[in-house]
Formats: sequence, C-alpha cells, structure tokens
Amino acid sequence: MSHIVVATANAHKVEEYRRLLDGQDVELMSLADYPGYPEVEENGTTFAENASIKAAAASSYCEAAAFADDSGLEVEALDGRPGVYSSRYAASDPERIAKLLKELDGVENRRARFVCAIAIAFNGEVLEVFEGEVKGTITLEPRGKDGFGYDPVFLPDGYDKTFAELSGAEKDKISHRANAFNQAIEFVEDTLSALDF
Ligand code: IMP
Repeated sequence: MSHIVVATANAHKVEEYRRLLDGQDVELMSLADYPGYPEVEENGTTFAENASIKAAAASSYCEAAAFADDSGLEVEALDGRPGVYSSRYAASDPERIAKLLKELDGVENRRARFVCAIAIAFNGEVLEVFEGEVKGTITLEPRGKDGFGYDPVFLPDGYDKTFAELSGAEKDKISHRANAFNQAIEFVEDTLSALDF
C-alpha cells in the first residue's frame, strides 16, 4: 500500500482527511508520525503559497509524497480578513470567534467564505495545487459543538445549521477542504500513482 503524508499535526484536520480517504488504497501519515519534524515558517501571502511551502518541506523531510492544506475564512465586510491569518487572528478558537463577532457588530453584510488550497509535493517539488471554497454567512452568535475553528459561526448557503451543528459527514459533502481534496485525490490516483510513491 502506498503512503502519503499530510503536512499537519492538527488532529481535527487529520481526522477529516482520514474520513475523506476512507476506501482508498493509501495509508495516511501525519506530522505526528515524525516527532522531530522542524517548524516550517508559513510566510506566504496566499493560501496556495502557504500550502506549497508546507507540502514541499514535508515531502523532502519525510522522503514521501506529501500534501498540505492552507485554509481560512474570508469575510466580505472585512475585505477578506482574517484570510491567511485565520489561525493567528487571536489566541484560541473562542477568542477568534469573539473577535470576529465584535468586528461584525452592527454590520449588515455578513457574507463570508471558507477557502482551502491543497498542494501535493514529491521529492521537495510541488506538483499541483487545488483550491476549494464554500460560501455562507456569519451568524450573530456561535451555535453547535462539533467541528473546530470558526465552525460555530459559519452558516453555509442553503443550510439552516452552522458547520458546528452539522455532522462530519454532512460537512464533508460541502466543505472547502472536501472540495479541494476531491480534486486532489483524483490527481493522486491518476498521476502520482505512476510515480510509484
Ligand atoms: P491553517 O490552514 O492550519 O493555517 O489554519 C487555518 C485556520 O482557519 C484554522 O485554524 C481555523 O481557525 C480556520 N479554518 C480553516 N478551516 C476551517 C474549518 O473547516 N472550520 C472552521 N475553521 C476553519
């Protein structure tokens, strides 16, 4: 069985990717399997750049095919913030949510989108980058306990439940990450398997 490394130690993301890879003949490893993995600076200005930096570094260090994602929330009324700074916007998930709701206090336009870029690398070289999105609105208050990050305040278009109220399976049908990943897995099956990874 081939294996591929996902360049994250975020247990929530690994769990989402394990679900998405269910049924594929690929073993998923993560940076948690490489305890000495060095810190990689995410100094790109776009999701695609940051994903590329992380995937290239992981494929070199782990000597394996690797993919990495970079994702975040873009809020229309905030000119796309927090964007690539979504995880650095405040210190914890509850603080990030509180800060976002404060910035949007009294703001009528609550349109937002989650974006996810996934880069695939082999031997330190980025082969492809795929991008997915899901559009929605920011609620007035957090709702739901599942998921992570900004899930409790993100209401995807066409649903009356936030990402934190939807089940993992329901989120997977429409999420930015699933969307980018479905494009990436096709590439892995078609192209990367020819590289005998
Ligand atoms: P990174 O991709 O690890 O740099 O982190 C992106 C940040 O965006 C996360 O820490 C979350 O705050 C937010 N984010 C990305 N994807 C999601 C999601 O599916 N739900 C909620 N928040 C997310």
